[in-house]
Amino acid sequence: MPEKPSKSVSASAIEKHVYKVFPNDMNAHDTVFGGMIMAKCDRLSLVVAERHSAHVCVTAAVDSIHFRAPAKGNDTLLFSLSLNRSWGSSMEIGARVEAENSYTGETRHILSAFFTFVALDANDTPVDVPGVIPDGEEQKRRFGNAEIRREGRLKTRAQLAKVADDEDN
Ligand SMILES: CC(C)(COP(=O)(O)OP(=O)(O)OC[C@H]1O[C@@H](n2cnc3c(N)ncnc32)[C@H](O)[C@@H]1OP(=O)(O)O)[C@@H](O)C(=O)NCCC(=O)NCCS
Repeated sequence: MPEKPSKSVSASAIEKHVYKVFPNDMNAHDTVFGGMIMAKCDRLSLVVAERHSAHVCVTAAVDSIHFRAPAKGNDTLLFSLSLNRSWGSSMEIGARVEAENSYTGETRHILSAFFTFVALDANDTPVDVPGVIPDGEEQKRRFGNAEIRREGRLKTRAQLAKVADDEDN
């Protein structure tokens, strides 16, 4: 099959998607429940992956989730997600969440994370996706760093598979 034409990062990116925090989003410590923020990142990353690949996608891995600061009641959360790089059927999407005080305009960095999605064909088999054209210097830096993280992920995956094999034999 001919290679699919590459697409720009901006073609699939989500920039500052707004979510207003309400009381039902809080945990017992009266800060925003982290699982809700992670779930929203997963859902929005899926949109980025499906825009880029034009296929159904599934989450294969999530790594380097860092909660950098708590979000609080009445904050406005701003979700930004973009494709860092694609390989065969897999894609890495970077997520960044900020909390905005909408009265003052002050923002705080709340979370960073990386999601790996895999595109599937109609038989649920991984299918190749378009390459990525980084739009600028920041996108080029993310493109390079994504390869380093992928090497780490695949190495861990291979090591765990070997341990499982050894246990079976
Ligand atoms: C993700 C999944 C489709 C991969 O299937 P698989 O049989 O392992 O397929 P392959 O080994 O051919 O790998 C396909 C791609 O996924 C990547 N991949 C698979 N597991 C991975 C992991 N843990 N971390 C990073 N990449 C992974 C491979 O590197 C490969 O990428 P490439 O095509 O770009 O080289 C399969 O493991 C799966 O269905 N997992 C469950 C997904 C799910 O239910 N998610 C939650 C709900 S959406």
